[in-house]
Amino acid sequence: MTERTLILVKPDGVQRALSGEILSRVEAKGYRLVAVELLHASREVLSRHYAEHEGKPFYEPLVEFMESGPTLAIVAEGERVIEGFRSLAGATDPTTAAPGTIRGDLGRHWPTAVIQNLVHGSDSPESAAREIAIWFPELSA
Ligand code: RTP
Ligand code: MG
Repeated sequence: MTERTLILVKPDGVQRALSGEILSRVEAKGYRLVAVELLHASREVLSRHYAEHEGKPFYEPLVEFMESGPTLAIVAEGERVIEGFRSLAGATDPTTAAPGTIRGDLGRHWPTAVIQNLVHGSDSPESAAREIAIWFPELSA
């Protein structure tokens, strides 16, 4: 069964000019791009997107970082794309994320208040539907 996921190239990825490399990995894996938009996320969008992390110590630095520059928002489609993109992205910690993954090949720790790990990917069908509605309301109408 075909499904969709929300992928974000976070501000560190856009700033480091890795948007093309990351899009290319998604396409090379065989997923179809449904929507791609470069935008500067508002606090309102970010507080909805990261609602599950509200109250955690990294929440405020995370939202500030995500507000700090443009993000490339992507909807990709394919069988098991949610799981497939999480596998392409690699573990949250970029220092130990497996080589071959986006975070493992292109990410590292920097002296920043929050972990910068280049990408976000929805973690379940419920999250994907919720997140696509936040970033691309026109696709959920
Ligand atoms: P994402 O949601 O961005 O795809 O990443 P994830 O599932 O691998 O990680 P999650 O636990 O959902 O955390 C969301 C983002 O918050 C930052 N984070 N910092 N201890 C920390 O400093 C910490 N923990 C999480 C990361 O940017 C992570 O991707
Ligand atoms: Mg997450």
